[in-house]
Amino acid sequence: MKILLTGGAGYIGSHTVVALVDAGFEPVVLDNFANSHPVVLDRLTSITGQPVPLERGDVLDTPWLEDVLRRQQPAGVVHFAGDKAVGESVAQPLKYFHNNIGGAISLLRAMEAVHAEAPETAPTLVFSSSATVYGDPASMPITEDFPRGHTNPYGHSKLVIEDMLYALNAARPAWRVGVLRYFNPVGAHPSGLIGEDPAGIPNNLMPYVAQVAVGQRDHLNVFGNDYATPDGTGVRDYIHVQDLAAGHVAAIKALLGRDESFTVNLGTGRGHSVLEVVRAFERASGRAIPYRIAPRRPGDVAQCWADPGLALRLLGWRATHSLDEMCADTWRWQSGNPNGYRS
Ligand code: NAD
Ligand code: UD1
Repeated sequence: MKILLTGGAGYIGSHTVVALVDAGFEPVVLDNFANSHPVVLDRLTSITGQPVPLERGDVLDTPWLEDVLRRQQPAGVVHFAGDKAVGESVAQPLKYFHNNIGGAISLLRAMEAVHAEAPETAPTLVFSSSATVYGDPASMPITEDFPRGHTNPYGHSKLVIEDMLYALNAARPAWRVGVLRYFNPVGAHPSGLIGEDPAGIPNNLMPYVAQVAVGQRDHLNVFGNDYATPDGTGVRDYIHVQDLAAGHVAAIKALLGRDESFTVNLGTGRGHSVLEVVRAFERASGRAIPYRIAPRRPGDVAQCWADPGLALRLLGWRATHSLDEMCADTWRWQSGNPNGYRS
C-alpha cells in the first residue's frame, strides 16, 4: 500500500519513511528540498535496504500534484511539507501563509480533483500540526479539547490549516483526516544515518545542545531560570522522533481501518526542564555542555506537556523512548555527521 509523504525528505518525514517500510507500506517521498538534502534518499535506502521513490517538486504546484496522485495512487497522504521556523515566520509572515496554508490548499484541491475521477476510495490524509496551536495553555497536561490560539504566524498557519481540514471534513464526511499535534520532536534514527539538520543557528534546544557538545558552539544560552517550574527553566514534552514516526503509522492504520477522522496529541505526557536536558546530554555524550543563563525568549511559555491518553485510546499508540535515549540517538547522529547531510 503506497503512502505519499509531502516533505518526506525532512526530519520527521524521513523517520516516518523508515517506520512505514517496517510496517509493510510503500512510502513515496515528495519534496522540493527547500529545507532538506537529496542525500537523505541514499541514507533511507541504506537503512531500509530498498530504494525509496521520489517525486521532486513543489506542493504549491497543484496540476503537478494531481499528476503525482494519478500516477502513484496512494492509499493515504501524510502532509509534512511546510516551513517551521517561528522567528522567521515573524519576520516573513507571507512566506509562511503562502507555503503552509497555500501548500495545504493546493494539496487538498489536488486530492479533491483526483477523488472526483475515482470516487470509490475515500481520500485519506494525515496532517502535521503542532502543540503551538494551544498558544499559552492555562493548565497542564494539555488535552485536545483545550482552547486553541496562536502567538506567531507559523502557529497561526497551523491553526488555519486545522480549521480548513475541519470545514472540509464537515462538507465531505467520506474524507478521513488525522490531525496530529506534535509536542517537541527530538532524537534520531539509531543508525545515526538520518537526523535533524537545521540550517544556520538552531532555534530549538536539542540541536543547539548537540552542536555545543560537538564543539561547533561554545555554550548554550538558557532562556530564563525564573519560570514557575521546579528548577526555574522552561519545561517541555520532548518526544523521540522514532515514537513520532510510529504515531504516523498508527494514524494511517486507524484511518484506513476505521473510516474515522481524529485530532490527537503526540507527546509523552512528561515534561523535562532545559537543565534536565543539558544533564541528560552530558551523560549521553560524555562531554560538558557549558551554559549561561540568558533573558527569557519572547513568546516562550513556562511549561508545556501533553495528555497523550486519546492517542492511546484511539490509535493504540504511546511513546516509549526515554530522554536518555533521545539524547544518545541525537549524539550518535550529531557526532557522526557534524555538518549534517553536508558532512
Ligand atoms: P523539515 O523542514 O525537516 O521538513 C519539511 C520538509 O518539507 C522539508 O524536506 C522541505 O524541503 C519540504 N518542503 C517545504 N516546503 C515545501 C514545498 N512547498 N513543496 C515540497 N516540499 C516542501 O521539518 P520537520 O521538522 O520534519 O517538520 C515536518 C512538519 O511537522 C512541518 O509541517 C512542521 O511544521 C511540523 N512540526 C514540526 C515540529 C518540529 O519541531 N520539528 C513540531 C511540530 C510540527
Ligand atoms: C518551539 C517553537 C514552537 C514549535 C516547537 C516545535 C518557539 C518560540 N516555539 O517551541 O512553535 O512548535 O519549537 O518543537 O520557537 N531553549 C533555551 N536555549 C536555546 C533554545 C531553547 O534555553 O538555545 C529553551 C526554551 O526557552 C524552551 C526549551 O528550551 O524552554 C525548548 O525550546 P525549543 O526547543 O525552541 O522548543 P519550544 O520553545 O517548545
